[in-house]
Amino acid sequence: MNEKTLILLKPDAVERNLIGKILSEYERNGLTINDMKYMTASKEITETHYAEHKGKPFFNRLVCYLTRSPIVAVVVAGDNAVSRVRALNGTTNPADSGDNTIRALYGISLSENTVHSSDSVESAKRERAIWFN
Ligand code: CMP
Repeated sequence: MNEKTLILLKPDAVERNLIGKILSEYERNGLTINDMKYMTASKEITETHYAEHKGKPFFNRLVCYLTRSPIVAVVVAGDNAVSRVRALNGTTNPADSGDNTIRALYGISLSENTVHSSDSVESAKRERAIWFN
């Protein structure tokens, strides 16, 4: 099924000039960039995006990280885009991520894991509305 999903290239990706390398991974795997925005995330939008993690021990660190320098918000489209992008990105902790996944290649740590992607079609709809309203 044709889907759209939301990806964030997080501050550590932009700071290390990895935008082109990471986006080319999605394109090389047959997915299409549908929308894109270079921006500095506000505290408000970041807290809305990560609302499910509010109250967790890492929440404040997560918000500080996401807002410290520019990010790129991207909508990617294609057949089963949600699960395909999750597979390309790898697991949350880069140390556990499969060979050649984006987080294994570029992730720094569990806290600074370079990319975010929606975990379901419903989340993708919600997150696209937050970043591309
Ligand atoms: P992401 O896929 O963007 O979704 C939630 C983020 O919270 C996750 O990537 C990590 O960057 C971060 N995260 C999840 N668990 C932890 C943790 N235990 N410590 C620090 N950061 C975490």
